[in-house]
Amino acid sequence: MNNFEQYTPTKVIFGKGSEEKAGEAVKNAGGSKVLLVYGGGSAVKSGLIERVEKSLTEAGVGYIEFGGAKPNPTLAHAEDGVVIAKTENIDFILAVGGGSAIDTAKAIAHGTANPDKALWDLWTKKVPLTKSLPVGAILTIAAAGSEMSDSAVLTNEETGAKGGINTEFNRCRFAIMNPELTFTLPLYQQAAGITDIMMHTMERYFIPKIKCDLTDEIAEGLLRTVIKNGKIVMKDQNNYDAQAEIMWCSSISHNNLTECGRGKDFSVHKFGHALSAVFDYTHGASLAAVWGAWAEYLYKDAPDRFAKFARKVWNIDDPDDLSSAKKGIDATVAYFKSIGMPVSLKEIGPDVEWTDEIIELLAMKATMQDTVKLSRIRPIGAKEAAEIYKLALR
Ligand code: NZQ
Ligand code: ZN
Repeated sequence: MNNFEQYTPTKVIFGKGSEEKAGEAVKNAGGSKVLLVYGGGSAVKSGLIERVEKSLTEAGVGYIEFGGAKPNPTLAHAEDGVVIAKTENIDFILAVGGGSAIDTAKAIAHGTANPDKALWDLWTKKVPLTKSLPVGAILTIAAAGSEMSDSAVLTNEETGAKGGINTEFNRCRFAIMNPELTFTLPLYQQAAGITDIMMHTMERYFIPKIKCDLTDEIAEGLLRTVIKNGKIVMKDQNNYDAQAEIMWCSSISHNNLTECGRGKDFSVHKFGHALSAVFDYTHGASLAAVWGAWAEYLYKDAPDRFAKFARKVWNIDDPDDLSSAKKGIDATVAYFKSIGMPVSLKEIGPDVEWTDEIIELLAMKATMQDTVKLSRIRPIGAKEAAEIYKLALR
């Protein structure tokens, strides 16, 4: 087991009606004037924003609304938020939504606390981030895990880059999670969320040669829980208990618990981010489209790890590591397909002409112009990344 530090400071406020505690939670965290960051309008339509505003008012907390965070949120939109937050003397950023609203809130917090620095310079660590404003989240989709993660992701539309920053300043002070808020999700988003939750644990699992029994058990249990309850909510979105399991898994999957002693990889995310940067695909779908190809490309280099995954997550009963590994990959791809996710590039982009030039562009983006090696199974540069994208064509 490798050395590790585990610190998960976000206060979780979970369950029915928990959004009514928003005002109290902000006040306890020291906020007096909030920028209320949300997305394209689902939270307004459901009446959630109105309920949150009532709770803030009752707690004596002021607020200004800032909607419009779009899926794959942009740097430019976050910069607009910084201008408002500065002008209005905002001291707390409260996100209502999913990864896109929460990551926008985190970016606004960093930009507002550092008014003399360019946000993208902070984001790309050209300039060190040494302070930020406090952020809280009210979650409406179980997916990205941003409510407890140390990560945030933005797209810079000018450079065509989609990239994240990992920093302790990204930790939300609190995460309010009412599973009932997810009942209105479009099914495609529900499925993309399930995929993303699974991937956050799988991106930490496929790292060979390190023994971490407890971390493995947590990861395998989490994956079995998401797979089982994912099937239920895809048929019955109003099933509170199933949505609650999935929502809790979304946070645990990405709050670093499933990497203790092993660390993380996140190479499939790099492939997915390149796809979303170019084509604006839904994040979870971009992962489903390449994971099968990624796994097939690499499993023979770590058959025991893939076999353990197959046996513990998919209950595959086969003594041979290589054939178990392959059966586990097939079961995972079949599951993604069964919940309506694309499992190839042709499925995610049926209208795209997947030319060698496009594959090359994606491979260069995923590997930051061939400057970084992906995967902890074996190094993947731009050449190998292109081979994986080609395998994902199917
Ligand atoms: O914008 P609105 O109108 O709210 O609609 C959203 C959006 O269209 C809709 N939605 C959300 N909750 C709803 C709802 N519709 C009806 N009822 C509800 N209760 O769902 C759509 C997707 O929302 P979004 O916030 O984009 O989803 P998600 O949580 O999947 O976030 C995706 C973003 O997070 C990033 C992704 O790359 C992507 O940009 N990630 C962030 C991470 C992090 N900060 O730790 C880690 C992840 O790996 C990921 O990269
Ligand atoms: Zn993700």
